[in-house]
Order: sequence, then structure tokens, then C-alpha cells
Amino acid sequence: MVYDRRPEDFVRITTKELAEAFIAEQIDAIKEQVGDGKVLLALSGGVDSSVVAALLIKAIGDQLTCVHVNHGLLRKGEPEQVIEVFGKELGANLIYVDATDRFLDKLAGVADPETKRHIIGEEFIDVFADEARKLEGVQFLAQGTIWPDILESEDGIKAHHNAGGLPEDLQFELVEPVKILFKDEVRQVGLALGLPDTMVYRQPFPGPGLGVRCPGAITRDRLEALRESDAILREEFGKDGLDNDVWQFFTIVPDFKTTGIRDGQRTFDWPCVIRAVNTVDAMTAEPAELDWAFVQHLTKRITSEVPGINRVLWDVTPKPSGTIEWE
Ligand code: XMP
Repeated sequence: MVYDRRPEDFVRITTKELAEAFIAEQIDAIKEQVGDGKVLLALSGGVDSSVVAALLIKAIGDQLTCVHVNHGLLRKGEPEQVIEVFGKELGANLIYVDATDRFLDKLAGVADPETKRHIIGEEFIDVFADEARKLEGVQFLAQGTIWPDILESEDGIKAHHNAGGLPEDLQFELVEPVKILFKDEVRQVGLALGLPDTMVYRQPFPGPGLGVRCPGAITRDRLEALRESDAILREEFGKDGLDNDVWQFFTIVPDFKTTGIRDGQRTFDWPCVIRAVNTVDAMTAEPAELDWAFVQHLTKRITSEVPGINRVLWDVTPKPSGTIEWE
């Protein structure tokens, strides 16, 4: 798909004033496009869909319905934040679907990474389509497509990020108000719209979520250990503003056990891997140089607070040879 307006034709959004001007322009454009029609949006809680949601709420209020699908592979506190910010503070028409069991049941016993990704993607579309069918008279689908998505789809690197894949009976006209923006501009717009910093500066999080950090067949107990260790990591990185210096950081809990000792008793538990990287474009990456005392502190907290973990490993591999994610 070729767009008539390209980013090079317009001033980059680098200030609050420019962001506000963009918001005002987009509100007019959205109103003109949708009139009094109804719009649907899959709201993941990531930067792009959150900014689109906030923009549409400002433009058309309750003509927008947001659907937040919790696939059970989100980080600790994420669904709660979406409900708090969009459902309560911004008063959005928000449908929250806890589809955890649906996803985890389908994923039970599935160890192959690509099959896992495929199941998560398909199931997501199914859940979203089920919700869309329950609504009447929706003509438009809003999406947080941004300029790099369009460039990558023009280059054939990835399929255009639309909910393409929706079944035949669900075909909508697209509303893509941030499609000529780069990520840093989307963030400026998000700040100007009053979204919280933790949402606007959220680090990249893969669509399949914690699923790709729980290698092999996902089990609920190991997933929980992963979610808890990730929450500790994020809390600790947030304390000294280290989260501004490191591009992406998370934990992985592999599916094997090793021996250990806790309270004088032998344990047989999982290890937890810390992955922290710096990169410019995620095509290559360097392990972040973490302070040794900080790594020891993380180790102490994770091994003492997370049930099922008795050992912490630090992944110091650059990309290449390792990818950033483990699956
Ligand atoms: P890799 O692991 O390929 O990751 O070095 C590069 C960046 O992409 C993110 N990533 C994904 N994002 N869906 C996404 O939306 C995915 O399936 C996916 N896999 C990896 C990863 O977190 C990193 O930022």
C-alpha cells in the first residue's frame, strides 16, 4: 500500500507544542473520517495502541470501543494499568477480556517456538473477532500503525500490522492516525495527551508476550515465576532510573531444574536468566554493563522472593550470536 503523505513532507514532532498541533489536526481528520460511525480498537497497552486510543477518545468519545485482550502472557500489573488509565481515568468504552485460560489451554504441551507464536496470534484474532461480532454497527477499525511498520511492509519484511487476518464477515475501514509518525514522535503525542510515563516509555514487549520468555511448553507455575521475577527486575531497574539507560531488560525461566539449598533443605528448582541489552534498532544488540553489586542484589531478591527459583544466571551474549528474546 502506498501512502500519499510521507513523513519527509512534514515537520518532525519534537516538542509539546508540535504534539498539540498534531493532536488538533488529527482530531479534525478523525471526525471527518468517521462522522458519527462506531470505531473498534484492540488496545494492548503498548505505546502505539494507547496513543491511538487516547487520541480517539478525545476526538469521538464513546463512539470508540476498546477491547483489551489479556492472553495471560502480559507482565505483572499491565491489564490493571489499562483498566485504570482507559477505563477509569479516561472514561473509555472498554471491554476487558480475560482469555488466560483459553490461551494457556491451547498452548499446553506445545514446545515449538513458531507453533507457540502461531497459536497466540490465531487465538488473539479469534478472541477479538468474538468480541467484535457482539457489537452492532461498527464500521471502522483503529490501529496503532506507525511509519516503520509501513516501511517494513513496503519492503516485505513483515506483513502490514493490520488486523488483516480478521475473518471475511469482519471487514472494516481503517483509522490510523499515527501512521506517519516514528516511535519517538508517538511518545511526544502520548505525553501531550496526558498518558502516564510508564505507558509512554514502555520498553518494547513482543506480541506473544511472556510466552517467548517461558521456553518450551508453558506451564502456569513457571509462567508465574517468570512474571514475578520480571516484576522484581522492573522494580529494581526503576529505582535509580536505570530503566532510562538500558534499552530492554527482562527475565527468562527455562524449562529445566537444578539442585540448590534453601533453609538447610535441598531444592530442585528452575534457574532465572537476566537479559539486559542496549541497541539502536534491535537488529544488533550489546549486553548492558550492569553493576556487579546490582546483579547480586537482583539475585538475592529473585531467589528469596520467587517460588520455584533457586538460581540466577546473567545472559551476557550480544546479538548476534543470540537474539534478544530466547525464542
Ligand atoms: P529478537 O529476539 O529478534 O528481538 O532479537 C528483536 C526485538 O523484537 C522484539 N520481538 C518481537 N516483537 N512480536 C513482537 O511484537 C514478536 O514476535 C517479537 N519477537 C521479538 C524483541 O522484544 C526485541 O525488542
